[in-house]
Amino acid sequence: MFVFSEHVNLKKERLMCGIVGYTGSREASPILIGGLRRLEYRGYDSAGLALLGEDGDMQVYKAVGKVANLEDLIKDKNLSSGTGIAHTRWATHGAPSTINSHPHQSQSGRFAIVHNGIIENYAVIRKRLMGMGYTFRSETDTEVLVQLLEYMVTNRGITDTVEAVRATLKEVIGAYAICILDRTRPGEIILAKQSSPLVVGVGEGNSEFFVGSDASPIVEYTKEVIYLEDAQIARIVPGQPISITTIENRCVQPHVQHLEMSIGSLEKGGYDHFMLKEIFEQPQVLRDCMRGRVLPSRHSIVLSALSSHSEVLTHAGRFIIISCGTSWHAGLIGKQLIENFCDTPVEVEYASEFRYRNPVIRKDDVVIAISQSGETADTLAAMQLAKEKGAFLFGIVNVIGSSIARTATTGIYTHVGPEVGVASTKAFTGQLTVLSMFALALGHLKGTITDGFYHEAVDELYHIPDKMEKVLEEDARIADMAKQFTYARNFLYLGRGYNYPLAMEGALKLKEISYIHAEGYPAAEMKHGPIALIDADMPVVFVATQRHIYDKAISNIQEVKSRKGKVYAIVFEGDENVSKVADFAIKVPVTSDFLSPIVSTVPLQLLAYHVAVNKGLNVDMPRNLAKSVTVE
Ligand code: F6R
Repeated sequence: MFVFSEHVNLKKERLMCGIVGYTGSREASPILIGGLRRLEYRGYDSAGLALLGEDGDMQVYKAVGKVANLEDLIKDKNLSSGTGIAHTRWATHGAPSTINSHPHQSQSGRFAIVHNGIIENYAVIRKRLMGMGYTFRSETDTEVLVQLLEYMVTNRGITDTVEAVRATLKEVIGAYAICILDRTRPGEIILAKQSSPLVVGVGEGNSEFFVGSDASPIVEYTKEVIYLEDAQIARIVPGQPISITTIENRCVQPHVQHLEMSIGSLEKGGYDHFMLKEIFEQPQVLRDCMRGRVLPSRHSIVLSALSSHSEVLTHAGRFIIISCGTSWHAGLIGKQLIENFCDTPVEVEYASEFRYRNPVIRKDDVVIAISQSGETADTLAAMQLAKEKGAFLFGIVNVIGSSIARTATTGIYTHVGPEVGVASTKAFTGQLTVLSMFALALGHLKGTITDGFYHEAVDELYHIPDKMEKVLEEDARIADMAKQFTYARNFLYLGRGYNYPLAMEGALKLKEISYIHAEGYPAAEMKHGPIALIDADMPVVFVATQRHIYDKAISNIQEVKSRKGKVYAIVFEGDENVSKVADFAIKVPVTSDFLSPIVSTVPLQLLAYHVAVNKGLNVDMPRNLAKSVTVE
């Protein structure tokens, strides 16, 4: 995990499916359902739970769709039980259906399992077990885990459940966070983790235990948590200390951490959607991100990752940024910042492409992985490849303790708090803020920017949140404009320089939550093809806040207008010319070109949000998407 002095909060990890578990003296089912609700944003095609009674009786319920459907299913049942496991699923193997939902049970019904991740060699194991007479009910990869466990007990005669789990996991290849119930061991839950996060909340004096695929289902009950590490197996029984061993059967001393995450930070706080809340909290979270790092009294930036690794970073021959989606867009802006201020070449790659080619890595290369969740499978795999090739790994991550944070040698947390809305908003502006701090501080250290420029830029960065607040005041106007765009079928987003990646980010926001096709283009490329698309039905969003190419932006806008395109422009306050030619203009406070994306992204986020709301879509949980992509 990165080591740095300004470590303040522990925040949650996230991935596609959600896991909750409980064992103790309370009723398990309300805790499980409440926990699933907190995790619902991450995977929502089905949900299920298994409860284990004191007499070894096991009840399993599953429902397709939202957690509410599961709640409906169990509301009239007699569910008195203090031990249970539950899951929200986002299908990877097998369609969303009751049969494919978790928990899955072994053939005899002795074991039940919930699983996040993917078992890569499941087909081979399944075939082998079927050859030995095992019958599979679902199409999932998960079911092989529980059937293999039963095989270890019945065919191989392994009597201890933890030992049987160990033997099972030695045979599987893939990623997993699992919780297992065994009918012969009431009160007990066995957990294991490899590449997918799993957190255990510890009740007073070990009287009860809570389990989550992140801490959000746990924090309302306890702040004392243990993050399991890869290749660990844990056994929890109320009244006994947690026992943790590795797959190789080495005992591990549990490391209990105190969480500072509040329930309030997980709620919508009066907004209609998490996305809107997260857009509006950007000024505050960016202040949090800069706290203790941007020092206005000294007009300077202090980053412990930079101080402790100054030699490597100042002598880097090249930076290679690897990331996905929105984080990749932040990387493209980061490239311009670092090249402009540090005079070091930067390459930006989709992690998914980087990992599957044979990238040339030199001794003095520094790989920067950017990720909100810290769990994106492609980014993690790309980092591992870069590490094998000898690169120095630097992380820009939001979720503390996440896999990417742990894999990086050092890095900078964005500290923007839990991001729940699937469409990334505050994480993006947090990444831009961190990249700006990094590029300025490194440039100053290298002497590639002057003291005067540095001090001015630092002061300006410090005041960026105030400028964002001004943009947020435009929300009602943007909502009004969005009404005119709601039924558009295609959108073009254009920008140049720092605004080109921003155009791509604006287009991504719109398409992922409103399902309208949108493309982000460098404005000057329009005439090399996309201009053919422009007609009266094609709204064009133009981010025109780069001063040195302002005139060129005006000619691009005129090209669109003369083909009857509708132009929605984002300009600086005081602009006259673009506002005159555009159909609508949103004015944002004037700032340096390099900081303007942080401010100009806000109207793009709000536009996408209002269009999706007008279309009556589920903004926080758009179809086919999950908050973090922990599978390839
Ligand atoms: C878009 C979005 C995704 C993520 C991408 C990478 O709004 O959220 O494109 O940016 O899946 O995720 P992280 O940053 O968690 O690695």
